[in-house]
Amino acid sequence: MNQPALRDSFGRQIRSVRISITDRCNFRCIYCMPKDPHWIPRDEILTFEEIIRFARIALSTGVEKIRLTGGEPTARRGLPELVKGIAGRPGLRDLSLTTNGMLLGELARPLWDAGLRRINISLDTLQEEKFVHIARRGAFTQVMGGIEKAQQAGFSPIKINMVVMRGYNDDEVADMARFSRDRAVHVRYIEFMPLDGDGIWSREKVFTAQEILDRITEEVGPLEMVTGGTLSDPARAFRFKDGRGDIGIIASVSEPFCFACDRIRITADGKLRTCLFSQTETDVRALLRGGAGDEEIARVIANAVWNKEAGHGINDPGFLQPKRPMYSIGG
Ligand code: 5AD
Ligand code: SF4
Repeated sequence: MNQPALRDSFGRQIRSVRISITDRCNFRCIYCMPKDPHWIPRDEILTFEEIIRFARIALSTGVEKIRLTGGEPTARRGLPELVKGIAGRPGLRDLSLTTNGMLLGELARPLWDAGLRRINISLDTLQEEKFVHIARRGAFTQVMGGIEKAQQAGFSPIKINMVVMRGYNDDEVADMARFSRDRAVHVRYIEFMPLDGDGIWSREKVFTAQEILDRITEEVGPLEMVTGGTLSDPARAFRFKDGRGDIGIIASVSEPFCFACDRIRITADGKLRTCLFSQTETDVRALLRGGAGDEEIARVIANAVWNKEAGHGINDPGFLQPKRPMYSIGG
């Protein structure tokens, strides 16, 4: 049964849900995780059945896009089965996955066969030693292999996410643009947000969208803006004049796009978050496990959405970093 659409008190309609399917990860990226993370106990993690039911209810409220995230979603056994359970559901127009790419060598093909068509892969550096420094794991070669396997399996275009941090990898902004040109992948530069686990974020470490643009223009060549994207896509799109290379820049900190946000998230332990930076959550797991009907769950989601915050407030004086770091929220 179709539920009323999800609208918030500012008139934004929610069309996109990010589902974190595990908080566990085989990396420890410094912008996301503490050195020693505390994992959510297994029995608190939503089962595939619960996730699929939640997805179905969300789709009945006008959600059209679902992204599976983590932690690292490929670290959860049986991911292709979950994809099969969600792909092709009525109302679903876009199903995607954000992954660190390490296990794509084995999983790219099964995921494609399960019906997945879009993948974002995190890659913050093209230098093996620096990879170890940022991801705190030596998996550069596997990730590069994973990107290739994903391309061979048919995923196109593949989007590469690079979180740009001053003093860590801003010296590779141009190299990454060349990588986009050489490998026919889309590169999305993401401003560093205060979501890390060890408190290393500072405003000074945010390498801004403008700095990224200037760097690419100086070192690689002039870019032109690609028009016609949707307002709710956080990335501003650019292309080189010769047509090779696709660049997206996500200016979450320097030019927030919260006014056009159409997203909500659910954590691996079934808590609905209406913003990355929410200070409150809605316990959907309790409803899923407590015998609530679909309509009741849809009503609770709609109510949470109505109270969606205006924006992240990173630039406000009283800003508070959320208690959960990125890995336990879902990217
Ligand atoms: N700031 C910006 N982006 C982040 N991500 C994770 N942590 C942060 C952060 N602190 C993004 C990475 C990754 C996705 C899961 O979330 O790009 O690809
Ligand atoms: Fe793992 Fe992704 Fe967080 Fe890196 S960004 S630690 S790969 S969840």
